[in-house]
Amino acid sequence: DKGNHRHFMEKEIYEQPEIISHALGHYIDFASHTVKSTDKAIDFSKLSGLAISACGTAYLAGLVGKYWFERYARLPVEIDVASEFRYRELPLSPTQAALFISQSGETADTLASLRYCKDEGLKIGAIVNVKESTIARESDAIFPILAGPEIGVASTKAFTCQLAVLASLSIAAGRARGTVSEADEKAMVKHLAEMPRIMSKVLNEIQPQIEALSRDLSRFKDVLYLGRGTSYPLAMEGALKLKEISYIHAEGYAAGELKHGPIALIDENMPVIVIAPHDRFFEKTVSNMQEVAARGGKIIFITDEKGAAASKLETMATITLPNVDEIIAPMIFSLPIQLLAYHTAVFMGTDVDQPRNLAKSVTVE
Ligand code: M6R
Repeated sequence: DKGNHRHFMEKEIYEQPEIISHALGHYIDFASHTVKSTDKAIDFSKLSGLAISACGTAYLAGLVGKYWFERYARLPVEIDVASEFRYRELPLSPTQAALFISQSGETADTLASLRYCKDEGLKIGAIVNVKESTIARESDAIFPILAGPEIGVASTKAFTCQLAVLASLSIAAGRARGTVSEADEKAMVKHLAEMPRIMSKVLNEIQPQIEALSRDLSRFKDVLYLGRGTSYPLAMEGALKLKEISYIHAEGYAAGELKHGPIALIDENMPVIVIAPHDRFFEKTVSNMQEVAARGGKIIFITDEKGAAASKLETMATITLPNVDEIIAPMIFSLPIQLLAYHTAVFMGTDVDQPRNLAKSVTVE
């Protein structure tokens, strides 16, 4: 049931604050501001490293997770798309653990990667939406994302719930490994606890601007997304979402890679969507944005209040989100990206929930 929404995708975008709050309840204690101990089959304290694999949007959630596990838990992460991972002959050791992320829990390549790691003697963790799925059944530890059924082929709420679970697990891993202090844990968990309220506020505030902007965006044939740090996977997620449902060609790039190739494409016919919260990468990303502006590129700047105040560049549009802590920024910055793809597709009249050639669950190689 779509309720009063036009598409399941729209419903699932707007469900996120409530669903994430519910999902977080499984991983954090809202009263004491600590992470709860979840499935103990994986002992993060003793690991030498983590392997992560998944496909599509789930893979991009894993890429954000990589930044978190490395920064907060000082745990090296090997990550690859499952269709490559399974054939890489990556040397692994039982001192590592492996995490597989899948909404459906049935993705063929992800399952094959899981079995590869199992054969190598690694403990297996599954970050899944469907708890009865094959991937969940074959894992030692299950970390449910509790997003409820996701009907739209373009993944939205599953992505932000996967991120919420990964954020919680990386804090838990940091506590177990002594790299996150009790005070840091409290501070980060407080930010996670505030996130649902901020998400609702953002969804309401940005909708009219994004809808108007989408009308302009729907006239272009190519779009480039740029980001740095955890905003880099978000750039790729933004591009994936746009191409899936609007069929506009889009690429997501690490902002620093701009001058190693894609800058050759910059002209007034290819908008560049820059995702840049005012974090420790902000200045660097703005200097990449300057390179775009200097070549007549059109910029859509997705930033926060501090970032909007700090940049004087002329843009096609600036979407200003509230200033938030960096642990929750990827979830908050997912919202404009999802809405932009959604409204652009609606303007173009595509089949938003059932885009051509795509299946919700990819159970063959
Ligand atoms: O069920 P899974 O999470 O394993 O699916 C993985 C991908 O097929 C999926 O995320 C796909 O990329 C989505 N259509 C993206 O919106």
